Amino acid sequence: MKITDFELYKDLLKSKSGLVLSQDKSYLLESRLNPVAKKWGYDSLDAMTMTMQGVPDPELITDIIEAMTTNETSFFRDSRPFDMFKDVVLAHVKQARPQKKIKIWCAAASSGQEPYTLAMLLKEAASDFPGWSFEIYATDISNEILNQAREAKYSQFEVQRGLPIQLLMKYFIQDGDKWQLNDEIRGMVKYDYFNLMEPMSKLGTYDIIFCRNVLIYFDEETKGKILGDMAGHIEKDGFLFLGGAETVLGITDAFKPVPGQRGLYAVEGSEHLEQKKETSAQALA
Ligand SMILES: C[S@@+](CC[C@H](N)C(=O)[O-])C[C@H]1O[C@@H](n2cnc3c(N)ncnc32)[C@H](O)[C@@H]1O
Repeated sequence: MKITDFELYKDLLKSKSGLVLSQDKSYLLESRLNPVAKKWGYDSLDAMTMTMQGVPDPELITDIIEAMTTNETSFFRDSRPFDMFKDVVLAHVKQARPQKKIKIWCAAASSGQEPYTLAMLLKEAASDFPGWSFEIYATDISNEILNQAREAKYSQFEVQRGLPIQLLMKYFIQDGDKWQLNDEIRGMVKYDYFNLMEPMSKLGTYDIIFCRNVLIYFDEETKGKILGDMAGHIEKDGFLFLGGAETVLGITDAFKPVPGQRGLYAVEGSEHLEQKKETSAQALA
């Protein structure tokens, strides 16, 4: 691909979705955009690029963005965050929410494994939360992947990655060569399109935000802007989960790592950070 063509797609993706493409990803651009060119009836990627130099159909732009998203995910991905969710986060909200309501936002939900993992965990913990209501709001920039998430049908390969067999047997029904998640767990998650590059004013305030394995694709400025905006949509004693390769350090002061809980962050000034400081001070005394 010519440098100028690469630059055209690079600028488009950065401005519309936040994705930063380095020159060494030129091969990725070509391999993912060739099928889009074919779908739109172009003879070649070059022919599609010529259209892109003019005023392209917004749906073509959407298809290009969707083709360039990486939707890699799995049930109980990295496992440890879900232990922290049960042992640290749920333990806190249980004593801190007299209104018996928990609101969770999964900000880059992909094909649903992350929000459904949370839904299954909440269902498993239901006897400890009598009378509670749980709201799981799951968003993504890709409508195609959101449709897969809503359908909640997974291949053998997908259910074998991280999902304990007991939960598979309890909450899924085999349907040909796929596994269909049951309606009760599906009904616990509400899906919507949301681009993290957009203003968050239409969103509510959440007790817990999962924003895992998406900020890695953005530059520092975009990460800082998104995390700063998220700080305005999380309760003061709320929790933020990031992916294993992501951090707030050097990017924003709005959140701080919860000591001893890798991947878990709290709002600056939150009691979760204070309690730990007191404990360390006591240990030194
Ligand atoms: C690698 S997946 C991560 C899925 C899940 N959070 C996990 O950790 O397993 C990244 C997801 O981010 C979505 N995404 C990329 N750019 C986005 C944006 N600007 N706004 C919202 N979602 C975005 C992609 O469509 C993709 O589904």
